[in-house]
Amino acid sequence: MIIAVDGPTASGKGTVAKGLAAHFGLPHLDTGLLYRAVGRQVFLDGGDPDDPGDALAATAFPDSLLGDPHLRSEETGGLASRVSVHPSVRQALYRRQRAFAEQPGGAVLDGRDIATVIAPDADVKLFVTASIQARGMRRWLEMQERELDLELREIEADIAARDKRDIERPDAPLRVAEGAIVIDTSAMDRDQALAAAIAAVEKVR
Ligand code: C5P
Repeated sequence: MIIAVDGPTASGKGTVAKGLAAHFGLPHLDTGLLYRAVGRQVFLDGGDPDDPGDALAATAFPDSLLGDPHLRSEETGGLASRVSVHPSVRQALYRRQRAFAEQPGGAVLDGRDIATVIAPDADVKLFVTASIQARGMRRWLEMQERELDLELREIEADIAARDKRDIERPDAPLRVAEGAIVIDTSAMDRDQALAAAIAAVEKVR
């Protein structure tokens, strides 16, 4: 069983994907981490994330980089969003994601284009979303926990900018795939979002 989980940043898709993987005993790939690794590698190389050549070169990042705590930072998220617009970068990361999806027992993958590009053959396609306000508040709370004091308005603006880049890029834009089930987590906590996703998977399989 292949489960595709797509959605914008801070929608709860990562939590949902991880929870589904644990519930159904499937391996999980957070594909955003691959784009983050490319963004981080461009930075380490002193390259330009908007330059297709620099970004493509950075797809040769070492596997050890995937364990780097810097990958989770807002800065790296912004770099990831910039390198991910280059078709050559997306192409370079395709095989790795496809191989993960094709594992004999199945898999859960989360990202932006899983149901549209990486695994259009997925058995279950979920699109997890939430309002900018709900996502901004979640990010803000996360930052407070990490003792980072950022303005809520700044965070919302950053989220909106990332959405715009993901939705408007010509190659593999973020969109609801045909046949996908939309889960709006604006008014849900983690447990409710996961319960809704499990129910959706149970209904389809
Ligand atoms: O999901 P996460 O915030 O870690 O993703 C970082 C960035 O990587 C996103 O803003 C998006 O631009 C890009 N991405 C993508 N395709 C994916 C996963 C992530 O373009 N499948």
